[in-house]
Amino acid sequence: MVAHSAQALATQSGLLGGRQGAPAHRVRGVDVSGFINVDVQPLPNVHWVRGAWQMELVPSAGVDLIYASHVLEHMSMECVRHTLAEWFRVLKPGGLLRLSVPDFAKIANLYQKSRNLEPLLGALMGGQSYEGNFHQAAFDGVYLEDLLREVGFSIVREWKPPAPGMEGVRDSSTATVTVNGVEHLISLNVEAVK
Ligand SMILES: C[S@@+](CC[C@H](N)C(=O)[O-])C[C@H]1O[C@@H](n2cnc3c(N)ncnc32)[C@H](O)[C@@H]1O
Repeated sequence: MVAHSAQALATQSGLLGGRQGAPAHRVRGVDVSGFINVDVQPLPNVHWVRGAWQMELVPSAGVDLIYASHVLEHMSMECVRHTLAEWFRVLKPGGLLRLSVPDFAKIANLYQKSRNLEPLLGALMGGQSYEGNFHQAAFDGVYLEDLLREVGFSIVREWKPPAPGMEGVRDSSTATVTVNGVEHLISLNVEAVK
């Protein structure tokens, strides 16, 4: 990280140029200026091939911003707690954690209204297109806020894509599902201040 003089740490490689469920549009490893890209897969533009929880190399209060879109749900709940605590540690005071995850409340609501499970399975269980592309955790706004406050974050609020500085980058923060011919946004986009 020091070598890159980067201000930010990102867990956002494997960005989707299209929508979830449209792998033909998948853009692997988009380079966003200023970010160190962390991913468990050795994708293009990934600087650190490692789990997003493995922050031992990062000094406490060492980064300004962490962006993680559709990553947390790939971890066990124990790992989610550990990762959030690590991200809190490495952020500077006033630093920002910007998250996007599938919103269980939106998905459940869509199911309740439609009783049509198939189009919702990817958002709920993961794309299942490669090892690791499976969901182990689920979140709604209240639960995610509780987890963030538990590890010490003070301000927790919604953010709307595109994130500042990421205009033109399309990722799963704007993922949609199409249920009975109607497209619905399914992400929970939450940021937290240390
Ligand atoms: C569904 S894709 C999301 C890609 C992109 N960030 C987006 O928003 O479209 C999940 C990405 O997270 C990576 N990933 C999964 N578990 C991870 C972990 N524990 N640590 C770091 N990266 C992880 C995967 O390799 C994949 O590139």
